Amino acid sequence: MTPRNLVILTGAGISAESGVPTFRGPDGLWEGHRVEDVATPQAFRRDPVLVQRFYDLRRAALAKVEPNAAHHALARLDAEWPGELLLVTQNVDDLHDRAGSRRLRHMHGELKSALCAGCGAAMPWEGDLSNTDAGAPACRRCGAARLRPDIVWFGEMPYHMEAIAAAIAACDLFVSIGTSGAVYPAAGFVDWAREAGAATLELNLDPSAGTPLFDEARHGPATALVPAWVAEVLAAVGR
Ligand code: OAD
Repeated sequence: MTPRNLVILTGAGISAESGVPTFRGPDGLWEGHRVEDVATPQAFRRDPVLVQRFYDLRRAALAKVEPNAAHHALARLDAEWPGELLLVTQNVDDLHDRAGSRRLRHMHGELKSALCAGCGAAMPWEGDLSNTDAGAPACRRCGAARLRPDIVWFGEMPYHMEAIAAAIAACDLFVSIGTSGAVYPAAGFVDWAREAGAATLELNLDPSAGTPLFDEARHGPATALVPAWVAEVLAAVGR
């Protein structure tokens, strides 16, 4: 059956070939840090300087990477797909945005956004959030010097969950790309899709924890698998 409504979930694996490191390397460290030392509200309270610097470096590193063939293929799919489509990314990089995806939700926040712990405003942010000689950068809405990375840390609620749940409930094909299936709620989306009666497909470098839950799994690099799959689904609708 040709699908009409698509939900696509991406994780760090789609950006790996652009040069953005994945989270769960063989050493279990994320760029030299334990996740609990940089990606929890407790870590930020304990050592705000370390956490701000960590994300400042990740933000600055975005200037050195480009979207790859997999990001571009998903942007083409977004532009040409005649039915509903939602691209949900766990990634905090801006590579889907730069490739041109429009029907896109960042469920774990974005490096290029700052969040005011005072008034709750989120604002586009390009530079560092660490203190400078002039002091801590201030919120553009309330002026408080309480900005933090706009990243969903462990123990915090992911963004856009209502819209994501509604899209999954209405989809007939759910595709998971480049994610280890280790972090909930995203790891549970395949179950939600199955409950909704959707077909499910995994595209990942190697089998993931969730592979047995998918109707079909294809294994290999995203820059090969994703353009091939996009060409296939677009051909099925005559594009
Ligand atoms: P992981 O690092 O856990 O998993 C990356 C997945 O991508 C693995 O299954 C790899 O096999 C696969 N992979 C690596 N290179 C690939 C390639 N070239 N092509 C295709 N697949 C490839 O990253 P995520 O699953 O995204 O959360 O991690 C989920 C969340 O955990 C992240 O969003 C982050 C982290 O803690 C927050 O920051 C809140």
